[in-house]
Amino acid sequence: MKTVKVRLGKRSYPIYIGKGATEKLFSHITSRIDNRPIFVVTNRKINTLHGRKLKKFLRPLTRRIRFYEVPDSEKAKSFSVYTKAISVLAHFARKIRPLVIAFGGGVVGDLAGFLASTYRRGVPYINIPTTLLAQVDSSIGGKVAIDIKGAKNIIGNFYQPSAVACDFRFLKTLPEKELRNGLVETLKYGIIKDVRLFSFIDKNLKKILSLDHASLEYIVYAASSIKARIVGRDEFDNKDLRVILNFGHTIGHAIEAASGYSRSVAHGRAVAYGMLAASLIALRMGILKKEDNDKINALIRKVLSPKIKGVRPKAILSALLYDKKFVRGVNKFILPKKIGRVKIVENIPQKLIEEVLREGVR
Ligand SMILES: NC(=O)c1ccc[n+]([C@@H]2O[C@H](COP(=O)([O-])OP(=O)(O)OC[C@H]3O[C@@H](n4cnc5c(N)ncnc54)[C@H](O)[C@@H]3O)[C@@H](O)[C@H]2O)c1
Ligand SMILES: [Zn+2]
Repeated sequence: MKTVKVRLGKRSYPIYIGKGATEKLFSHITSRIDNRPIFVVTNRKINTLHGRKLKKFLRPLTRRIRFYEVPDSEKAKSFSVYTKAISVLAHFARKIRPLVIAFGGGVVGDLAGFLASTYRRGVPYINIPTTLLAQVDSSIGGKVAIDIKGAKNIIGNFYQPSAVACDFRFLKTLPEKELRNGLVETLKYGIIKDVRLFSFIDKNLKKILSLDHASLEYIVYAASSIKARIVGRDEFDNKDLRVILNFGHTIGHAIEAASGYSRSVAHGRAVAYGMLAASLIALRMGILKKEDNDKINALIRKVLSPKIKGVRPKAILSALLYDKKFVRGVNKFILPKKIGRVKIVENIPQKLIEEVLREGVR
């Protein structure tokens, strides 16, 4: 088992990764639970598959446990699900401040974290992510949020968990499609910061997809170390450091928005497309060498096909103009300089973006 520390002074916390991660997490927090009521936010699928395993850990800690199931999919990050959950929580833990546990993918994590951050102006929470995406990305860094129609993550907070456990036992039931989605984000860390992680994924893709323990431990440790380091230096995303985590997401988010957040356009696919497009822009601006662009291209396509159906370049372009990174019309992209290094580039000619969207990524 490995541990990564997110260093944020009083708000520092450990991420336990690999065999025994859940055991370690509970031994770390046992004294702090002290018979508090525990409110586990999850969904029916995850609860059915893995709820019993988690319950075994919780029983010795407290007499009051509630597994609260929210709808599957992004629908759970809604105001109506949030208000219902908070009233159940208020009823469940009226007198004593509860511990909230997020037990699921990024959707459950974002909602549960937001719930914990707002209930009684903040109660402790821990995160046990059950998708690869949540293990390498959404469970770390304290961004918690829900959506409104047409605008993702628009109601939110920065609220750090007390601990995170990335336990690969839970990944065994994850559909391969979801695993590949998470791998796209893992690859993102390789391209922005870690050429060795990039090569590792390239060489060990089969092993990773078959959930080989050592390979998972390598990639989750490498990826979460990068995110932890960046978050440690830019907790509130206001120093232009955390922004590099958006590599591939500028165009990726525009694609999702242009599709009306259709379920047929998966986040991973949109980001895969966005990373290819950003690399192509970098190539055409003379920032990235052809050899590196070819490598990025080949590996992304091995992980996930970036083919987007039913979204026109024009719609992507107009969605881009609404992006929060486009401050007062000045666009801002994260572009690779080489594998393992990116730079922030502003004011990329709209014509070039258009060109890349129209004929670049196929
Ligand atoms: N807070 C952040 O910093 C951050 C970062 C990235 C993404 N996100 C958010 O994360 C969300 C996406 O997360 P996700 O990709 O984990 O999607 P998800 O939470 O929707 O999970 C994907 C699917 O896998 C299922 N699932 C989860 N664990 C499983 C398991 N162990 N076995 C079988 N099925 C399982 C889920 O029920 C769901 O159907 C988005 O809402 C996004 O906005 C947040
Ligand atoms: Zn993402």
